[in-house]
Amino acid sequence: MSRLLLLLGFVLLVLVEIDVATAGDAPGADAARGYRNILDTPYLPATLDAEVFDNLWQAWPESQRAAAEKADAESRRAQIYARYGFTPRPDEPDGPPLQLTRTKQGYHMNCFTCHGGEVAGRVHLGLGNTNLALQSFVEDVAKVRRILKRPLTRADLASAMIPHGDTVGTTNAVVFSIVLLQFRDQDLNVVPPRRRLRLPHHDLDAPPWWHYKHRTHLYIDGTAKVGHRALMPFILVPTNTPEKVRGFEDDFRHIEAYLKTVEAPRYPYPIDRALAQQGKPVFDKNCASCHGTYGEGGRYPNRLVPMEKLGTDRARLDALRVEDRKTYANSWLTGYDPEGVRTDPRGYVAPPLHGIWASAPYLHNGSVPTLWHLLRSEQRPRVWRREPKGYDKARVGLVIEAVNAVPETSTKHGKRQWFDTTAHGKSAAGHTFPDKLSEEEKRALLEYLKTL
Ligand code: HEC
Ligand code: HEC
Repeated sequence: MSRLLLLLGFVLLVLVEIDVATAGDAPGADAARGYRNILDTPYLPATLDAEVFDNLWQAWPESQRAAAEKADAESRRAQIYARYGFTPRPDEPDGPPLQLTRTKQGYHMNCFTCHGGEVAGRVHLGLGNTNLALQSFVEDVAKVRRILKRPLTRADLASAMIPHGDTVGTTNAVVFSIVLLQFRDQDLNVVPPRRRLRLPHHDLDAPPWWHYKHRTHLYIDGTAKVGHRALMPFILVPTNTPEKVRGFEDDFRHIEAYLKTVEAPRYPYPIDRALAQQGKPVFDKNCASCHGTYGEGGRYPNRLVPMEKLGTDRARLDALRVEDRKTYANSWLTGYDPEGVRTDPRGYVAPPLHGIWASAPYLHNGSVPTLWHLLRSEQRPRVWRREPKGYDKARVGLVIEAVNAVPETSTKHGKRQWFDTTAHGKSAAGHTFPDKLSEEEKRALLEYLKTL
């Protein structure tokens, strides 16, 4: 009898959970369909076909090429994954990589290219892909196409023009919406750019999707009001006609429903609970006004912090002009409803900190490798490189090697492993709020942050 009650209680709990998760969605928006849409529907043209994929190793430097040539199919695949930051799909390990959608045409980029990543030995859906080497991938694809004597396409030229990202793990994502929106009018028709085309170039760290359900506004500057259309700029390549984009709208209702179900993973290593308990009041006093409170009854304020107070890198803020944001505000992407779109944000929104242990590196540009460094603005490394798999339990974040200047490297791919905080858009300065805390408070706070 009691087992039956327990079961009933469990079923009720699940029902309540589902009810909460779907409150406010469009009728019928289905998270499972949204997840499949991301994996199965090619929203962008194929970046490469199967033959080019299998020959990617031919673009590599001599020593790696020799190793790949000798390897069997499976270990060659592992080498391809390791180089570009691809991972197996958690529920389909023998299928295509999580980060690419496979069709008869070949492999297409999908949302998980940047939003599916690995931490502490596990792949998490919705976690920023901090091993992604998108620029090297695009360049190697072009090289292999030349080796295979394929004709150049318009897509190849466009892709060669757009900088995809200077540092492994971050992408020049803002440029996608800038470029793609500048080629559209407010009804999504493809038109020549109205203003001089700008390609502001700097890289961003993809935020985790478990933030989504807490957000009223998206992106670090909080420009866009949440909604399924706000997720669609990424598919505005010129080959997607306005009819085609509108035809995908329902798919994005489901994708949005899926995003709302993504939960932050728990810290997988032991936590010193007593120490964490000491860190909680430190957090509540010094951090909660911007980042919210956690645990039962937790509240997240979606607070926009002015740049003068924050002091982190401002290139992202300046990359979009007020006019660019106005074009967005009055377009189909907002349902022609500019209400609530921030056209002149002048700062960044303090993100939620759920699962913060998992989403290193920190700050919107991914310039700070661990939480320990985030709490000590004076001690952040100037130039650093991560170990692709390591997890630093003491400092909470990436295992790194720090140097004073980017060392001589023989390849561009090698250079891209280094995060250079002196480069444009990559500064690790600012957010000095934790500096004033004592060492003891910082130690307790770090332990508390593991529990979020
Ligand atoms: C090329 C890499 C890339 C791809 C592909 C990509 N994103 Fe993103 N995404 C980013 C980056 C980087 C940001 C941070 C942008 C910013 O704050 O300005 C971001 C931001 C977001 C945010 C805002 C999160 C927040 O808390 O503010 C959402 C939601 C999102 N992406 C969903 C998607 C979906 C859905 C897709 C697929 C349709 C997608 N992204 C494809 C890189 C990417
Ligand atoms: C005045 C508001 C404010 C206060 C106070 C504040 N923060 Fe922040 N925090 C921000 C903003 C805004 C960002 C985003 C900055 C960026 O990415 O450039 C941020 C970023 C962060 C990040 C990185 C998040 C990520 O996903 O990369 C962490 C971690 C963080 N803060 C922790 C703290 C802690 C711990 C405290 C208290 C000691 C604190 N913050 C105090 C506003 C604040």
